[in-house]
Amino acid sequence: MGHDLLGAKIMLVDDSATNLMLAKKALSDRGAVFTVPSAQRMFELVGQVEPHLIILDVNMPGMSGLEAIRLLKSSPETRDIPVIFLTANADVGSEIEGLSLGAVDYLYKPIESTLLRQRVDIHLTIVAQRLRLEAQSRELKSFNENLKQMVEDETKKVMLLEGAILETVVDLVESRDETTGGHVSRTIHWLQLMVDRLKDTDSCPDELRYWDIPLFLQSSRLHDVGKIAIDDAILKKPGPLTAEEFEIMKTHAARGAEIIDRIAKNLPDGESTYLSEARIMALTHHEKWDGSGYPKGLAGSDIPLQGRLMAITDVYDALVSKRPYKKPFSHDEAAKILVEGAGSHFDPSLIDVFKAVSDAFRTA
Ligand SMILES: [Fe+2]
Ligand SMILES: [Fe+2]
Repeated sequence: MGHDLLGAKIMLVDDSATNLMLAKKALSDRGAVFTVPSAQRMFELVGQVEPHLIILDVNMPGMSGLEAIRLLKSSPETRDIPVIFLTANADVGSEIEGLSLGAVDYLYKPIESTLLRQRVDIHLTIVAQRLRLEAQSRELKSFNENLKQMVEDETKKVMLLEGAILETVVDLVESRDETTGGHVSRTIHWLQLMVDRLKDTDSCPDELRYWDIPLFLQSSRLHDVGKIAIDDAILKKPGPLTAEEFEIMKTHAARGAEIIDRIAKNLPDGESTYLSEARIMALTHHEKWDGSGYPKGLAGSDIPLQGRLMAITDVYDALVSKRPYKKPFSHDEAAKILVEGAGSHFDPSLIDVFKAVSDAFRTA
């Protein structure tokens, strides 16, 4: 066989029975040959047979070869089947028209067996190559899909691991500071209340519309991570801190940012939206609206929104919590202190939001 297409199917379309017979004989060892007496009959059979190659007579009664190829090329099911034209006349005009309509080749009658076989071999070899390429591209596609799935599975695993490690770090920070158990989960709950409300207000800052809220809330878990670096004697002191001790305690904000930087540096691309959010939280949650906070003494809207929000929930929790040196304030007392701090300690527009939702703070 002069081509390597296994199970090749060739359709011969000609109104002359003699030509069909001649061509069938010449091609009988090239594959399964289907002889068809008219273009109309070809269209009845083409969907069933699905030929790899059509040899089409140009001059036929009823539908001509040129009309037939137009129709073949206009349908997605048949447009890729190569068509060789066959005609009795050396008619250059119809040869050009046929080729421009998508015929791959042109042969003249009377059929010369060797030439016909050679042409058929060339085109079936091209078909075989195309089918191989299509199979390869299908394989490659499914390989890519598998690979994508594997990467997604791995990423999911790493994210779960990341979450578990962070959870442990947060637990460690909290368990060292015995007086503030549950602080992180309470502040997350309140932040959620504040953010949900803020989004519905006319004064919603533009940036909030683009925030990934769940990511923001999760990042708040690390706001006090810098307390890892604070000495037990200060962190667990059962009484108010001296001015000097308080200065040391204040370093937890900047130390937190340093710790997060160190974690980020160990990441392959040195970047994580979660960590950059957490860094902002850690560094800015003790800044005050009037610029008297720490570590940088930022004021007003220079303090990132994350830090301004956290400041409110953080202080509220400190007020309503019991400390060895103080009783817990009631909700109303704590709320009053927060409202009095609007414009000095806290962003006044966020205190308005707090006022609107503060009743829900009681239940946490
Ligand atoms: Fe803090
Ligand atoms: Fe805190």
